[in-house]
Amino acid sequence: MTAQILDGVALANQMQTEAANGVQLLLQQGLLAPTLAVVLVGNDPASQLYVKHKRQACANVGIISRAVDLPENTSETELLQIISALNADTTVHGILVQLPLPQHINSNKIIAAVDPNKDVDGLHPYNLGWLTLGEPVFHSCTAHGIMTLLRHYLDLEFKGVAATIISHSILVGKPLALELLNVNATVNVCHAFTKNLKTYVENADLLIAAAGVAEMVKGDWIKPGAIVVDVGTNHLPDGKLVGDIEFIAAKEQASWITPVPGGVGPMTVAALMQNTLRAAKRATATRAPARGATDI
Ligand code: GUN
Repeated sequence: MTAQILDGVALANQMQTEAANGVQLLLQQGLLAPTLAVVLVGNDPASQLYVKHKRQACANVGIISRAVDLPENTSETELLQIISALNADTTVHGILVQLPLPQHINSNKIIAAVDPNKDVDGLHPYNLGWLTLGEPVFHSCTAHGIMTLLRHYLDLEFKGVAATIISHSILVGKPLALELLNVNATVNVCHAFTKNLKTYVENADLLIAAAGVAEMVKGDWIKPGAIVVDVGTNHLPDGKLVGDIEFIAAKEQASWITPVPGGVGPMTVAALMQNTLRAAKRATATRAPARGATDI
């Protein structure tokens, strides 16, 4: 068997076009263009690249991207003050704080300081809480990007599907586990302390790897016919970009597989554009401070 490709680039482009149309509709109604503040602290090259992609996508879609680039030595108090100013600024609809933050900053405290109505990353306890309850407001971007990719290409009844996620991070593993539980998949969440990882992979009808370890999942571990999603982006010593899964060997086992690059990465960015458009639309509607009947 040779797997078919879950093409994230093609679908993300389609989603960006749809978001661009949504932005035009807002402008035609005389409303503000959606504005996303992207906060980057420090000089981590990987974060700089992710942020560049996010700002480029904003430009494609017609979302105004406000760059908040801060030095590595920014204090937690300073960052909290900046978040507070962005929360109060009615011309800003979405706030994204790029993670990881420098060690001296408590990222949970920062995430929780973002107005949940502007939390287009879907990481605030309010948004994760509603996702846990099965009624998400803002979905977290990578998990939602993956769900959208699967729903677009596959006619998959998630109910009872044996899903293995390799990651228990707040950016990928935890929200994705909740998304999959909400559609009644049976979910195993594996991580660095999991014993016999291979067994969990071998039993998975749906495998999602986001461990950040180059090609740690061997192709022959994959269950024949499995759906394989690789969130990893790792650079080999020769500079080659690879995922967490041995792509060539896994492609011979799987029924569907994401490429690296061109799978999950663009979907995360497209989900962010959707969320930002939605935040701008919600800001125009009168709504109760917490989720309620007026929520859209
Ligand atoms: N770092 C890597 N991916 C992400 C993401 O989706 N959101 C944020 N805030 N930081 C990240």
